[in-house]
Amino acid sequence: MRPSFALCALVLLLGLGSGCLRRKTPAASAPPPASSLMDGGTKDHTAALALPSLAQKFAADFDVGAAVMPFQTRDVPDILARHFNRLTAENDMKFGAVCPSPRCNFAAADEIADFARKHGMKMSGHTFVWHQMQPGWVFQDQGKPASRELVSQRLHDHIFAMTKRYADVIDNWDVVNEAISDTPGKTYRDAAEGSPWFKTFGSRDYIKLAFQYAAEAATAHDPTVKLYYNDYNIVIPEKRAKVLELVRWLRSEGVRIDGVGEQGHFNIEWPSTADVAAAIDEFSAENLEVKISELDVSLYARDDHANKKWQPVTEFTPELQAQLAQRYADLFRVFRSKASILTQVTFWGVSDDHTWLNSWPIGRRNDPLLLDRNHQPKAAFRAILEL
Ligand code: GLA
Repeated sequence: MRPSFALCALVLLLGLGSGCLRRKTPAASAPPPASSLMDGGTKDHTAALALPSLAQKFAADFDVGAAVMPFQTRDVPDILARHFNRLTAENDMKFGAVCPSPRCNFAAADEIADFARKHGMKMSGHTFVWHQMQPGWVFQDQGKPASRELVSQRLHDHIFAMTKRYADVIDNWDVVNEAISDTPGKTYRDAAEGSPWFKTFGSRDYIKLAFQYAAEAATAHDPTVKLYYNDYNIVIPEKRAKVLELVRWLRSEGVRIDGVGEQGHFNIEWPSTADVAAAIDEFSAENLEVKISELDVSLYARDDHANKKWQPVTEFTPELQAQLAQRYADLFRVFRSKASILTQVTFWGVSDDHTWLNSWPIGRRNDPLLLDRNHQPKAAFRAILEL
């Protein structure tokens, strides 16, 4: 999961912005430390609840979602219910989280789904196939690598079980997450880039199989559910071209894919709003739905991922607070202008006390969301509401 230095150098040379400097290597955010669990529910939400509802503000445009861990349905239930009409499980519906052993445990996923049901929210299913957080046992058979047939059967059963269990509340699934390579000239993330799926199949065929199973599961349990491919940095034209290659291949094989999720792990400078808009348009021209599935805006635009040089901790000054507000307003102006294409804009978190960006790419304070560490609305929240 490395950025291509050559590609980044070219992009920078061409003056196309700092995207490569901030380039993302995804990682699951760790469960919150005990202390943050213990202060759950004690922060003052008066200001957040006094604001007009964010979800209602954009009700005519797209859904507004939040990714959550189960504890947040107890920590910020009132904020979720007021400002969001959609949830994603930040980690708890991933294969490895649900089925750490062949005996699956749905308790954490169910807690989030039950909260959504209770509050009349929809959910985005995340995710069947990813190269991270996969259960090791799926790829093993009595101490040896499992055959392609066995892995296929296990994937089939998992997709059917999840589709059926959450058919009433999940209306779209990230069937496959991050299967595209960042390496120039290489389309698919392979075994060398850490995909146990590619390793087992020796090819991209696992992607096709996952979408086929998902379509069959939809027919059996949930005919209206939408099937998505989800990835990061697909506002970058080179990576977007690879996603389009994947989509065209699936469709040429008669396999259904309905939409593409642009994760939206952006930063305060990158990407340009023009690039965000161009990406949405290009997917739409391919007859795909588009969602912004994991939006956050990091304060750090000067990280050098190729050389692992990270910007020092930034103080969230009033100037930066204003800059973040401007940035969110600019992004939402674009999203709104693409409302006929976008199905949802989902934030990757609720408040700055719980975001993966506090621990990635290094442990460092970040302030990427609409509510601060004390659950107080930031200027960015108000700026979006004022559009
Ligand atoms: C990727 C994944 C998410 C999450 C983030 C980091 O974007 O799709 O599920 O793990 O990384 O939190």
